[in-house]
Amino acid sequence: MASKRASSGDEQQKLSPSGLPVRKIPGGYGVPFFSPLRDRLDYFYFQGAEEYFRSRIARHGGATVLRVNMPPGPFFSGDSRVVALLDARSFRVLLDDSRVDKAGTLDGTYMPSLELFGGHCPLAFLDGADPRHAALKRVMIRLAAARMHHVAAAFGAAFAATFDAVEAGLAASGAVDFNKHNMRHMLDFTCAALLGGALPSKVIGDAAAAKAFKWLVFQLHPIASKAIKPWPLEDLLFHTFRLPPFLVRRDYAELTAYFADVAAGVLDDAEKADPGAIPRDELLHNLIFLAIFNAYGGYKIFLPHLVKWLARGGAELHARLADEVRAVVPAGSTGAVTLAAVEKMPLVKSVVWETLRMDPPVGFQYGRARRDMVVENHDAAYEVKKGEMLFGYQPLATRDERVFQRGGEFVPDRFAASSDDERRRLLEHVVWSNGPETGAATEGNKQCPGKDTVVAVGRLMVAELFRRYDTFAASVEENPLEPVVTFTSLTKAAAARHCD
Ligand code: HEM
Repeated sequence: MASKRASSGDEQQKLSPSGLPVRKIPGGYGVPFFSPLRDRLDYFYFQGAEEYFRSRIARHGGATVLRVNMPPGPFFSGDSRVVALLDARSFRVLLDDSRVDKAGTLDGTYMPSLELFGGHCPLAFLDGADPRHAALKRVMIRLAAARMHHVAAAFGAAFAATFDAVEAGLAASGAVDFNKHNMRHMLDFTCAALLGGALPSKVIGDAAAAKAFKWLVFQLHPIASKAIKPWPLEDLLFHTFRLPPFLVRRDYAELTAYFADVAAGVLDDAEKADPGAIPRDELLHNLIFLAIFNAYGGYKIFLPHLVKWLARGGAELHARLADEVRAVVPAGSTGAVTLAAVEKMPLVKSVVWETLRMDPPVGFQYGRARRDMVVENHDAAYEVKKGEMLFGYQPLATRDERVFQRGGEFVPDRFAASSDDERRRLLEHVVWSNGPETGAATEGNKQCPGKDTVVAVGRLMVAELFRRYDTFAASVEENPLEPVVTFTSLTKAAAARHCD
C-alpha cells in the first residue's frame, strides 16, 4: 500500500512505493439505474467504445485510471461500476493473477446462463486459483501442443476452400464478403485442427456455422451492438433481458452430438491420464466451449482484422510480402505452407503481431481486486479496494504511445526492424492472449493456451495469401465486433496463373 510522503512546500504528497503521487480515482458512476442506462446508450450507440473512453479520459485531464459504468447495465448487471485501466502500465494489473480474481468475469459485469453449457461452468470463467481450473487447463494445454502439427495442413485446406469460394464470387458478382466465407470454413478448420475427424459442415451440414454462431449470440448479446436496426429495437432485444436458452437448445444438442463423436479419443485419453479428475460430460462441454467460443470465436474476429490491415497496406506492402513468402515457398508450389516455412518470414511475422497489437480480438478484460492495492499508470498511483471490479480496454493499452512509438499507427515492419532485445521489450506489451507475447499459458494463469496456434494461423494466412496472389483490393467497414471485409479484386501470382 501507499506509504511514503514527499514534501512540496507546506504540502505533504502521499507517494506510492515506486514514488508516484497517490491520487483519488477520477470519474464516477452517476445516479443509480439511470446513469448506467444512459452510459450504455453512449457506449453502444451515441459514442462507440473507443470514444466512450477517450472522451472520459479528456474530461478528467488525461487520467487513464477512471471510474466508469460498463454495459450492459440494468437489468443484466447488478453492478455496472468498474475502475477502468486505459494505458499500457495500469492494464498489466489485469494480467497478474496474484492481484485479480477472474471467477465469472470473462464476459464482464454479467454471467451467461450455465444452461448454455450443459449446466457446467467452462474453464474460461474459472479463476486461476480454482483447483478445477488447473485440472481443465492441463487438458487444454496438452491438447493444443499435441495437435500443433495438424494446424498447417488443416489451415491450408480451409484457406483453399475460402479463396476458391471468394474467387468464384468475384467472377460472378465483382464483390465478395470475406467474413461470410471465413465464418463457414474456420469452423471446419478449428474442429479439424483441434480434434480431427469428420468436419462439422459434413456431419451437421451447411448450417453448422450458423448454429455455432447462434450459440455465441445467446452468450454475448448483452455486450453486442449494431447487429439489428433500428438501434432502439436492438437495445430492447439484446440489452434488456436474457434471450431464453431453450431457444438454442436444439442447435446446441446437435453440436454436442458432433463433438461427443469427434472428441471421443480426447475424452478417453483424459480419463486415462487423470482418472476421476474431470467428469466426462464436463470435459465434453468444455471442449465445445474451447472449440466454438475460444478458438472459432477468436478466429472469426482476428482474420478479418488481419485482412483489413493487409488491404490498407496496399500494393507496395503486398509486393514486399510476396517477395518474402516466395523466397521460401514459390508461387504455384503445392501442399500447405508449413510452420517451419513461416518461421523464416520476418515481415510476415511482424504484420501478424502488429495486427494483434492494433486490434486485440478480445478487447475487454475484467478481474476483481483480490485485496486493497495500489494501481499505477505512467504518472500517478490510485488506491483500489478489495472486491472492486477492474476493467481494461485493451486497444488503448496496446496503442499506448508511451510504450510504442507511433502507437496508433499500423507499422508493418515494427517487429522486423527492431533488434532482438527491442523486439522482446515490445512483445512484452503485446497481450492479446491475456498475457505477454513472451509468456506461456500455465495451469495457474489465465493466459490463452491457443496462443502459439493463433499466431501460427495468422502467419499461415499471410503466407498462403501472398503465395497465391500478387495483390488484392478490399473495402472495409468497421463494426463493433469485427470489421466487414469485402474483396473487390484478387490478382493471381504469375506462376500460380500458369498452374491453373
Ligand atoms: C484468434 C483466436 C483466439 C483468441 C483471440 C483468443 C483469446 C483469448 C483470450 C483473450 C483469453 C483470456 C480471456 C480472459 O480471461 O479474459 C483466452 C483464453 C482461453 N483460450 Fe484463447 N484465443 C484464441 C484461440 C484459442 C485457441 C485456438 C484455443 C485452443 C486451445 C484457445 C483456448 C483458450 C482457453 C481454454 C482459454 C481459457 C484459459 C484460462 O481460463 O486459463 N484459444 N483466449
